[in-house]
Amino acid sequence: MRINHFPTTVAAAHAVADRIAERLKAKPNLVLGLATGVTMEPVYERLVARHRAGEVSFAGASSFNLDEYVGLPPSDPRSYRATMDSQLFDLVDIDKTRTFVPDGLAADPAAFARRYEAMIREAGGIDLQLLGIGRNGHIGFNEPGADFAARTRVVDLEASTLEANSAFFGGATPPTQAMTMGIGTILDSREIIVLATGAVKRDAVRAALTGPITLDCPATALRNHPNVGWWLDAESGADVVG
Ligand code: F6R
Repeated sequence: MRINHFPTTVAAAHAVADRIAERLKAKPNLVLGLATGVTMEPVYERLVARHRAGEVSFAGASSFNLDEYVGLPPSDPRSYRATMDSQLFDLVDIDKTRTFVPDGLAADPAAFARRYEAMIREAGGIDLQLLGIGRNGHIGFNEPGADFAARTRVVDLEASTLEANSAFFGGATPPTQAMTMGIGTILDSREIIVLATGAVKRDAVRAALTGPITLDCPATALRNHPNVGWWLDAESGADVVG
């Protein structure tokens, strides 16, 4: 486990973007695992800027997003598919037919989830998984109590997650279920980057890095992975050394 400290949110996010760009240069057909949320916005902004400057290409890459709200069509601007399109995919040279996001409208979610897992395997597995962390320690939408071996499936979201994400819904409650990669799916990635920024993440970061490994804090599962880097700003990382 490597812990990288940065003085500001922007510095941490930009360093993550630069790491992704480096990986894309080394392996143009990189398989990316991607996350959404406030934390990732400056990462994608930096990647778009570097793409526009001719410094990074996604032409050979493919991507699998962690999660999607159940019940939101891709055309809904609050869906994670629409968010990824507007923040990254439509602004860079990635082949959109190789960008995958769980289907929040799947008629048979269990069958879709099995297919999503199979597609990741057929792509050769995820080379680089980008993760945020929830205030309750969730990764993807694996809420406290999730099995560390869980695969892609539909889950219920906790009240704290709904509250944190209500900002994207004009203060209204978001859909209460999501389809998410499981912790087992995430741990299969060859490299994991966790980006956590802001004082609101400090408790979750401390629990994830220094507390007991427990289902109560899903991010503690990452301590079982051989290649995880944490990228923290001064506020999120104030309680951890490394
Ligand atoms: C999003 C995801 C979540 C977020 C987490 C932090 O795809 O999987 O785990 O990374 O909820 O969200 P923000 O960045 O909005 O604080």
